[in-house]
Amino acid sequence: METKTSKRTGTNREDNKVIFDTLDHPVVVNSFIENIKKGINAGYRDFILDFSKIHPIFPNASVPISGLIQYYKNTGVVFSYIDNSDNIISSTQFFDPIEPQDGSQLKLKNTLNKIWKFSNHESVFWLVNSFLEELRRSDIFEEGVLVGIEWCVNEIMDNVLNHSSQSIGFIMGQIHKSKKHIAFTVFDYGQGIYNSLKDSTYAPRHPLDAITLSVKEGVSRDKKNFQGNGIFGLHQIVKFNEGRLSITSNSAAYILKKDIAKSFKNVPTISREVGCTTIDFQLDYGNKISISDALKFGEKNYEIQNILLESLENEYNQIHYKINERVTGSGTRPSGLRTRNDILNIIKETKKVIVLDFDEIVLITSSFADEVIGKLLIELGFYGFNNIIRLRNMNSTVQNIVQRSVSQRMAQSLNK
Ligand SMILES: Nc1ncnc2c1ncn2[C@@H]1O[C@H](COP(=O)(O)OP(=O)(O)O)[C@@H](O)[C@H]1O
Ligand SMILES: [Mg+2]
Repeated sequence: METKTSKRTGTNREDNKVIFDTLDHPVVVNSFIENIKKGINAGYRDFILDFSKIHPIFPNASVPISGLIQYYKNTGVVFSYIDNSDNIISSTQFFDPIEPQDGSQLKLKNTLNKIWKFSNHESVFWLVNSFLEELRRSDIFEEGVLVGIEWCVNEIMDNVLNHSSQSIGFIMGQIHKSKKHIAFTVFDYGQGIYNSLKDSTYAPRHPLDAITLSVKEGVSRDKKNFQGNGIFGLHQIVKFNEGRLSITSNSAAYILKKDIAKSFKNVPTISREVGCTTIDFQLDYGNKISISDALKFGEKNYEIQNILLESLENEYNQIHYKINERVTGSGTRPSGLRTRNDILNIIKETKKVIVLDFDEIVLITSSFADEVIGKLLIELGFYGFNNIIRLRNMNSTVQNIVQRSVSQRMAQSLNK
């Protein structure tokens, strides 16, 4: 039996079987590419991928590998897999990333922790929207972080459609609440940044040169149609947040971590023509980002429109929060917590009054009332709550439930 063992690289190959030790680090991607190439050279066209040992999975390893599997499948290579005991491969759509078909469904679905395929602007729009709706209910984000994430994810996905020459990308996002940390990775098996820039006026000398250029303000392969501020802005946002950015394309890699930049050459890739691009960014959402400072193009500070807040605004310049439209889940304690997170994130984003509209809500549970109203009142204080929140359209049953749970919550907070 032909055996290739390499410690600390993430995968080992035994004939046509590739065994994964982990899926939590980008080096696994390199070792996967090398092992598949060697396997193909040894005559195999049919591989078994063994994921039984892995746990957990992170976007920076799993998104590129998932996309590479799709690439190799298109060239006639056949794969089968062995999942781990939690079925993590099937539950993350790792082996068969899905392109969102009916966007309206995504609103109800948690799109984080899954690998998605996208090939048009509609999918990008729905995915970004759905990621953000889920994030803002999951925890409380410091000022500027949510719009920063939205901007970065949009720019990176848009680049795949505009520059990769393949117009197919793969994406996954995660939130790690214990570390107050989000991670997104986007991969495409297109031409790569070097190939897309090499015939432009910037004429990069080699792949690393191309990545370094792409990070600069105003660099684009086509200045007539594009502005060249996407990757620059992403880099700035990550820098201001002291997060982490990694760009891998055409055999080069650039990593920015807490303001220290490192670069690498000779990173394995499919071929010169198929240079692939992987962009991974991680932000600390407990660390606020001044978007107007981060996104300064030329002398102009750029303000990001908050599309969600604009869509919720009413004619009195208030945020009209319709409970029956924005609450997801069945009105229990967890869904109350998600709703409170959503409201607290809005309070961080605007100084406007927020109208909580209970129209069409016939009944709520007292645990939902406690999570949303009771705890919000304690958190904001009586004065703050009165200044920011207005309650509207509660029927008498709902009023009674709210009244009871709020008094209990207040009494409890006084007895502490
Ligand atoms: N996924 C990608 N594949 C190939 N080239 C890319 C990709 N993403 C970015 N690039 C290259 O990097 C350049 C800079 O990207 P960006 O800063 O977003 O500016 P713009 O999109 O306005 O040109 C692009 O013009 C393109 O040449
Ligand atoms: Mg761009």
